[in-house]
Amino acid sequence: MSFPRCEQTRAWASLQGHFEAHGRGFDLREAFARDPGRFAAFGIDAPEVYADLSKNLIDIATRRFLLDLARECGLEARRDAMLAGAEVNATEGRPVLHTALRAPRGAGPHGDEVHGVLDAMLAFAERVRADEGFTDVVNIGIGGSDLGPQMVVPALDACAHRRLRFHFVSNVDGHDIVPVLRGLDPRRTLFIIASKTFTTQETMANAQVARDWFLAQGGSDIARHFAATTTNVAAAAAFGISTSFGFWDWVGGRYSLWSAIGLPIAIAIGAEHFRALLAGAHAMDRHFAQAPLEHNLPVALGLLDVWYRNFHGFGSRSVAPYHQGLRRLPAYLQQLEMESNGKRVAMDGTPLSLATSPVVWGEPGTNGQHAYFQMLHQGTDVIPVEFIAVKTPAHAHADLHAKLLANCLAQSQALMLGKSTAQALAEKAPTASASFDRAALASARTFPGNRPSTTLLLEALTPRSLGALVAMYEHRVWTSGALWGLNSFDQWGVELGKALASALLPRLASGDVAGLDGSTAGLLQRLRAPAP
Ligand code: F6P
Repeated sequence: MSFPRCEQTRAWASLQGHFEAHGRGFDLREAFARDPGRFAAFGIDAPEVYADLSKNLIDIATRRFLLDLARECGLEARRDAMLAGAEVNATEGRPVLHTALRAPRGAGPHGDEVHGVLDAMLAFAERVRADEGFTDVVNIGIGGSDLGPQMVVPALDACAHRRLRFHFVSNVDGHDIVPVLRGLDPRRTLFIIASKTFTTQETMANAQVARDWFLAQGGSDIARHFAATTTNVAAAAAFGISTSFGFWDWVGGRYSLWSAIGLPIAIAIGAEHFRALLAGAHAMDRHFAQAPLEHNLPVALGLLDVWYRNFHGFGSRSVAPYHQGLRRLPAYLQQLEMESNGKRVAMDGTPLSLATSPVVWGEPGTNGQHAYFQMLHQGTDVIPVEFIAVKTPAHAHADLHAKLLANCLAQSQALMLGKSTAQALAEKAPTASASFDRAALASARTFPGNRPSTTLLLEALTPRSLGALVAMYEHRVWTSGALWGLNSFDQWGVELGKALASALLPRLASGDVAGLDGSTAGLLQRLRAPAP
């Protein structure tokens, strides 16, 4: 299947002309004044997620050219090939089938294997939930073997098991595992060693520390207290773990929370809710596969990413979930987006002449407002913001929730509307230093406005809506990656550091700096020097 690179298409040339004529000077306030139907025109109702795209720097023509671009790049055919199991992860010679993990029984490829492991994993999760002997579950894993469960378990706290506490150890820094172990009773703890490969240095080292601690505390029944989630069941067995739940090389690490890697989630929320999480993701998969491109939410967001990155030149995107349960979503999205699309060569190995993944970052609202929103409103860079609001909370404090929602709406409004010098001058001036005149003070209080944002609305944060939301992000990342001509499913960029760390480890012990660059040698020597 061969399609032109995005920058070689006719649509790209049209977008360039359109950007110069209408994009660069586009003003959101004028666009709303001109078109009372703008909100409706740029809303997309996808399963479980309503998206308001109207506060973005786009008009109907922008959308038309972006859709032309998607079609010229063969986005639909490439999507269909991926979903059908074509070997789209060419550098690793694999298909990409995380969507099969959430297909209903009998509906997706590899159905027997997928549902066999799912049934076994969920039965185990239910046994742990019912077992009064367990109070704590510790997931030891990193990257995709950590970030998904670590994000989902607090997000679904409303339906989480009330006796069990969940801990996530990922960093090879002992400051991660030591405080966790300090609070545990080995007789009441289940350790899950989560690693697709079962070779990752951090995870293997922490697993070893956990096992040594368990034995030193008098624990003996490894079979009861350790389980593994991995594609490498043999390595888990060699480590001494007899309870393993497998998955497959066609599940990428950062796309794996739907697989056995989701075991901590399943223990936290139970089998029924875990199936609802999968069902929500599957509903978004159907939408991605079937909705016309103009109403297809992951596609619309991916196209917007291309528009902002390659035409406006915006280098980052901030994610602001107005739900405390989603506090780890930005970290989860950092791996999903930047490990997938942080690349500078195309699938065919040729260097790209255009920018790819933006930096993705954020904190939950309203906390971010009291930290970096200053820069979003008045800084020199334009940073599109993605707000996530949840209509119905899982608590009874209606007053708190109303304040939360008002803040969420106010931030996107402030970004768009801004505040003119005239408005600032008309305000009652605060008491100010005599050395500044009124105009200077007013200009510090002006906001340029016209800063773009998207608002994603969920009815409630449930297993089903969270599944849909995360699947939406997965397909959105694929969309921009496909247009940029990337393989979004490999991650060679993390390998060099791993290899160098392995080579430096013995040098830290021996002090041998021969052949090292001057900085690394100097730092290594300082790290080995006796304390002053
Ligand atoms: O950081 C690179 C990476 O390979 C990620 O893609 C992956 O999620 C993580 O390491 C953990 O890998 P594993 O699950 O094999 O331990």
